[in-house]
Amino acid sequence: MIVVTHSEAETEALGQRLAQCLHAGTVVALFGDLGAGKTAFTRGLARGLQVEEPVSSPTFTIVNEYPGHPALFHFDLYRLKNAEELYDIGWEDYLNRDGICVTEWSENAREALPEDAVRVSITRVDDQTRQIEVEGML
Ligand SMILES: Nc1ncnc2c1ncn2[C@@H]1O[C@H](COP(=O)(O)OP(=O)(O)O)[C@@H](O)[C@H]1O
Ligand SMILES: [Mg+2]
Repeated sequence: MIVVTHSEAETEALGQRLAQCLHAGTVVALFGDLGAGKTAFTRGLARGLQVEEPVSSPTFTIVNEYPGHPALFHFDLYRLKNAEELYDIGWEDYLNRDGICVTEWSENAREALPEDAVRVSITRVDDQTRQIEVEGML
């Protein structure tokens, strides 16, 4: 599926919509450059999971956890050197915790992504326009 959005709000709305189609244990792997809209998409996803806390990039902590329905585990892999480091912080435990794992900068840990991860690739077209490709939705 390819969707073109024309504002941050539209990208959030897409994330919110996709949240309805996810079940606990799913990994949503986000791909795209700085400023593509990965965090915006994640905010929408969080809204769709009824997360009440504000969502921001966990750049310094690698992962933020938000209670929701189900819980959201928001990873930012920007500073990761390899997939090994992700396992070091307990990636496999997160995968087994019946939440939704969303990963920004998935490029940095491709080997750690499960086969059945939903892949979301965001490309900047111009200032307000983003092309968003969603692969692997059931
Ligand atoms: N269609 C769009 N979708 C998402 N963000 C957009 C869009 N158009 C403009 N933007 C802007 O792009 C930036 C996206 O930031 P952010 O979500 O933090 O990106 P990332 O997490 O990928 O680095 C925000 O400043 C946002 O306002
Ligand atoms: Mg971000």
